[in-house]
Amino acid sequence: MQAPPEEDLPRHVAIIMDGNGRWAKRRGLPRIEGHRKGADSVRDVTRASRELGIQALTLYAFSSQNWDRPLEEVRMLMALLRDYLVDERAEILDNGIRLTTIGNIDRLPDFVREPLNALKDDSANNRGMTLCLALSYGGREAIVDATRNLVEQVMAGEIRTQDVNELSFAEALCTATLPPLDLVVRTSGEQRLSNFLLWEAAYAELYFTDTMWPDFKRADLMDAIAAYQNRERRFGLTSDQVKLRAIAPK
Ligand code: FPP
Repeated sequence: MQAPPEEDLPRHVAIIMDGNGRWAKRRGLPRIEGHRKGADSVRDVTRASRELGIQALTLYAFSSQNWDRPLEEVRMLMALLRDYLVDERAEILDNGIRLTTIGNIDRLPDFVREPLNALKDDSANNRGMTLCLALSYGGREAIVDATRNLVEQVMAGEIRTQDVNELSFAEALCTATLPPLDLVVRTSGEQRLSNFLLWEAAYAELYFTDTMWPDFKRADLMDAIAAYQNRERRFGLTSDQVKLRAIAPK
């Protein structure tokens, strides 16, 4: 399969990895088998993203709401996450990937948090792709956290109320170090954001596919990128204005 043209690659792709449970159920397997296969897709899609030259990939691995799943499933997801961090450590470091996270990782058990923090620290200076795992993450919670952060800065006299604007808000968010979000992919046929990157997705292109996450591989990512490249991103302008700007940028 031909690589997509590099000049209009999405800088930042975020994926809602959905359908692991249904994938397993259809095969008469326990849900965890779907998650296990889903971890293989994480490896495949991460490698493909890096090879294509995407700057940042954010994966919705565990939402703040996922804590309410049956205890056994949460335990198994945590074990899977730890295995992933241990197994992928060398590949991440060898390929210059910077691993980062968004979400409340203090809630994660020590056996996940320790290898996670070690890999975040050891990869912090890497300048290849950024792989961002959304763990114990919720978009509304992230907006509330950023708001609290700004309120505290105002109360401490560090900034003035009038300094609170879109730019300073974006800088207060946990995604501040990531490039602008260009493309959100959701697998499994569901068409909603489910509390994922609510602020950041304001102008992102949304791509929905019926493919279940365990079946989503490099070729499916390329399809999503091709669809993105065929969209016209207008950012509130008219189509004619967008075309004019492409010929004569401001
Ligand atoms: C949604 O499918 C998926 C999750 C809640 C967990 C995602 C986890 C992985 C892909 C594997 C581990 C992650 C890493 C980074 C190694 P679902 O269970 O809601 O599926 P369903 O809607 O079909 O029930």
